Amino acid sequence: MQNTATPVITIDGPGGVGKGTVAHLLSKRLNWHLLDSGSIYRVVAFAAEKAAISVDDSDNLLSLINALKATFSTDDEGIMHVFLNKEDITARIREPHIGQAASQLSVHPAIRTALLDCQRQFRKPKGLVADGRDMGTVVFPDAQLKIFLDASPEARAIRRHRQLLAQAINVTLKDVFAQIIERDERDRTRAVAPLKAAKDAIIIDTTTLSVDEVFAQVVLQWDLCQHK
Ligand code: DC
Repeated sequence: MQNTATPVITIDGPGGVGKGTVAHLLSKRLNWHLLDSGSIYRVVAFAAEKAAISVDDSDNLLSLINALKATFSTDDEGIMHVFLNKEDITARIREPHIGQAASQLSVHPAIRTALLDCQRQFRKPKGLVADGRDMGTVVFPDAQLKIFLDASPEARAIRRHRQLLAQAINVTLKDVFAQIIERDERDRTRAVAPLKAAKDAIIIDTTTLSVDEVFAQVVLQWDLCQHK
């Protein structure tokens, strides 16, 4: 059961669009909870790799999810930390190959269903900012405000590349670009809960905008939404 009395703002969009940064800033501004739903798919990918389970083996992935001892906590900075069997794997799940594996296993409808409850449990007073691919379309269809961020693949590759280098993950821009294109294609064309804007989402093209400009637009939309 969803706690539908608690407001939710969803921020969906493709990889590297900056939705994590904007969601984080917004959750801090409002003092609301934060759900980085991609990290849940990444934990499964990380655990599957450890257990040598293929991203195509949905039966064994489901058993893995049922036995998974993952916990999430948000630090004072508002960053969501992920623990697997009490080990902090926040940095490890950011590795590009884990992102690819998360995208691959997320195509299985049964896996998406199995992860629904876990995501909805983040909806707690006084509110939730949730970022991902299907937050506004599937996980929180009754969200008060739905934002869909988009940007050209080139701009997203440059942003993601910078982010990875800052985390001391050494990859070339060319490889990051290729991965963005591959992941986009898979995330947008999967049969269940594909990456797309909800009908009632506000779409913001961030290609030429700074983080501050995107954030200002999102805050404005929330102010407008409250005065409707
Ligand atoms: O946002 P991210 O890069 O951490 O997400 C990793 C992958 O997880 C993404 O390529 C597809 C999957 N994912 C999803 O299917 N649905 C979500 N709501 C979030 C992520």
